[in-house]
Amino acid sequence: MVVRFGVIVLAIFVLNVNALFCELQSSCKGCTSTPGCFYNAAESTCENLVRAPFTNKINVINIPYDCPIPQPEAFPYTDAFGRDRAFLFSAASNGENKTQVEACLKKVNAQFYSQYTIPCDWLNQNCSGYIAINPNEKSIVLTFRGSKGSTQFYTEALNLLTYGSRRSSLVDGDVFTYFIDAFEKLWAAGIKTDLETLKAQNPDYELWTFGHSLGGSLASLASVAAVKSEMFKKEKVKSVTMGQPRTGSLEYAISHDFYVPYSYRIVHAKDLITKLPFKVLPGQPNAYHHRFEVSFV
Ligand SMILES: *[C@@H]1O[C@H](CO)[C@@H](O)[C@H](O)[C@H]1NC(C)=O
Ligand SMILES: *[C@@H]1O[C@H](CO)[C@@H](O)[C@H](O)[C@H]1NC(C)=O
Repeated sequence: MVVRFGVIVLAIFVLNVNALFCELQSSCKGCTSTPGCFYNAAESTCENLVRAPFTNKINVINIPYDCPIPQPEAFPYTDAFGRDRAFLFSAASNGENKTQVEACLKKVNAQFYSQYTIPCDWLNQNCSGYIAINPNEKSIVLTFRGSKGSTQFYTEALNLLTYGSRRSSLVDGDVFTYFIDAFEKLWAAGIKTDLETLKAQNPDYELWTFGHSLGGSLASLASVAAVKSEMFKKEKVKSVTMGQPRTGSLEYAISHDFYVPYSYRIVHAKDLITKLPFKVLPGQPNAYHHRFEVSFV
């Protein structure tokens, strides 16, 4: 009895000391590195984890990676870039062939270079992407198509709901298998060699990667692969995706931000795809979004 009472007193003591300890942490990084504490983003305070369930989930930050940081000054997000570039190039990825993609590219004065459409999953459904040259803004633009049709959507969702993932030498960290399988195939189907050729012909050009949904995940992977393979310097790469699902693990997310600092995910708050695979536990490391999120609520 005495022992049990002692344990309770000790537990209360530890919690209180810990709570005091949390309040001493003023920075988000320091706070989230301290066991038993979380950072309250709304109040900019460090609090004891026991208070987390009573705090709006969106303001609870548990790990240093999620601490707020300013967007890169060299490439702040603009509505114009999102609407007039990422969106228009992504829409063109739905063209069935050169003629159709070219018709869409007229709106952005870009030139079609090549389209890559290959079977990318066990049901032999196609994944697709294309490269365009954008001389006015000195960029090579690599854009991927989103999932097409309900069979592809459900095959992809099945993978995401079971969290199947693996590593690849093209990127760092675990990536969900639907995305990495498709990406490795597309990369090898000519995208890698064509990018190398275009880079050699236009050494000062940037690389832009775009895509919606599945295409967003592929664009994220492509931007990392282009920098990791030293084809492009990170300052020369811009990636903007729309409705991108969680693409890989926390390790992938952290490495993505290292390789591709100029990157934005445009997210509609009610879009379920961007919640997949579900992150159920706080800090769950196998399904993580990378920076920076542009959220439309
Ligand atoms: C491109 O695709 C459209 C729609 O499927 C088709 O009508 C057109 O003939 C195709 N053009 C070429 C050049 O294959
Ligand atoms: C995949 O793409 C090829 C070439 O564009 C096309 O012939 C084929 O019908 C497509 N397959 C599916 C399942 O859509």
